[in-house]
Amino acid sequence: MNFETMMNLFSRRGILFPSSEIYDNHPSGFWDYGPYGAAVKRKLSELWRREVIIRANMIEIDGSICMDADVFRASGHLEGFADPLVECSKCGAIFRADKLIEEVTKEKAPEGMSAEKFDSLITKHKIKCTSCKSQLGATRKFNMMFKVSIGASKPQDAYLRPETCQSIFAGFPRLVKVMKKPLPLGIAQIGRSFRNEISPRNAVIRAREFTQAEAEIFFDPGKTEVENFEEIGNYKLNLKSEGDSRDYSPVSAKDAVGRKIMSKLAAYYLSIMQQFLVKCGIPLEKIRNRELGNEERAFYAKESWDTEIKTSLGWVEVVANNNRTDYDMAAHGKISGKDVTVVNPETNEKFIPHIWEISMGLDRLFYCVMETSYKKDGERVYLSLPPYLAPYSVAVFPLINKEGMPAKAAGIAAKIREAGIDVDIETKDSIGKRYARADEIGIPFCVTIDSQTLEDGSVTIRERDTKEQKRYKIGSMEESLRKMVGK
Ligand code: GLY
Repeated sequence: MNFETMMNLFSRRGILFPSSEIYDNHPSGFWDYGPYGAAVKRKLSELWRREVIIRANMIEIDGSICMDADVFRASGHLEGFADPLVECSKCGAIFRADKLIEEVTKEKAPEGMSAEKFDSLITKHKIKCTSCKSQLGATRKFNMMFKVSIGASKPQDAYLRPETCQSIFAGFPRLVKVMKKPLPLGIAQIGRSFRNEISPRNAVIRAREFTQAEAEIFFDPGKTEVENFEEIGNYKLNLKSEGDSRDYSPVSAKDAVGRKIMSKLAAYYLSIMQQFLVKCGIPLEKIRNRELGNEERAFYAKESWDTEIKTSLGWVEVVANNNRTDYDMAAHGKISGKDVTVVNPETNEKFIPHIWEISMGLDRLFYCVMETSYKKDGERVYLSLPPYLAPYSVAVFPLINKEGMPAKAAGIAAKIREAGIDVDIETKDSIGKRYARADEIGIPFCVTIDSQTLEDGSVTIRERDTKEQKRYKIGSMEESLRKMVGK
């Protein structure tokens, strides 16, 4: 199983496909989710909402994707959100310098290097254009934000946000006032972000438009106690540390703090996120939390951990966890001229809140969930998605399209729907083809209506992973299905 196998499945079932694909020159890096893909993505958002936002007592906003240029002057994106771009002097092919160097040397090129440093590495390793083998030009920095012009008479510059958290930072002064919640205060958001990637690739793993699920926890740097830490104190985190030849070594959250491997904030939120990923069906051995060294860490971050998932493409960063210090709020306070401070209720002193960030790429998570659930059983392919993440929990099939079976199936599907279970009804193709389709999109239970149903009011329920079929009386079917799908 590899990335192409997944992309074939996505394409064949309309789960995920290039946006504007009927036009030959459509820009790359933009993807559309078809009904099954959109359903899984929506269920992942709902699970995140339940297992992270609600569980950790956060509040949620829904910010605009188009924001004032000053927001990005403050955040540093206007000045520094640029990738190193290198162009072939002959054929004009464009590459991201760090990725090109990585490809050739098999070593990670640090992200924040100067253009000159990239040039010297290109010269040192005698790197040429991979398309025509000619000399490469000088490296230059390319700003990855999408600029938009607002209004007709005196157009104003604005940008599509490259990270959802900027809406949270800009909204914080109002939110902290009106929501009347003390710090630490977690503010979360699921929404679109845009980055004009030089070389978008691996479908939604590196796209130009993507969905982030971010949570920003505003805290007083003088109070780093975590109220509900005991809840996860004994939970074992998979850690990858420098010099550790194993891919992961489980350490309890309590020990990770006691041994000064990480801060209490990191241990708490990494545990919540790892538990969430396990609920998404990702096998524990395919999850690791890797601390970023000085070279990889964003310049403003004090502590950084990437939560990664093992796929056929290697370890993929799905969640970036960062102590962003007071960098964001101090910068927004300075550029906007507004008061962004919070008052300590005990001392009455004002301070600029610090931020612990949990930044998850929802599309990347989607890919990882789909790939890690991919199973092959002889010729049969199925996605072993947890029932609560499957596009539909149940599919209803009339065995044949006559003898009153379709009408009976419609009635049964309606009953299942009334029981609060999402259900699809399929009448096209042979029953074998319908089972194969349901397996491939991960539907965990198929209810089949056959001639016996018309005689004795019983149906079969087929379980996806085992292919086992059992008969149930229609009267007890809803209750049994409810238990099976975990309702
Ligand atoms: N907010 C962090 C990121 O988007 O990378």
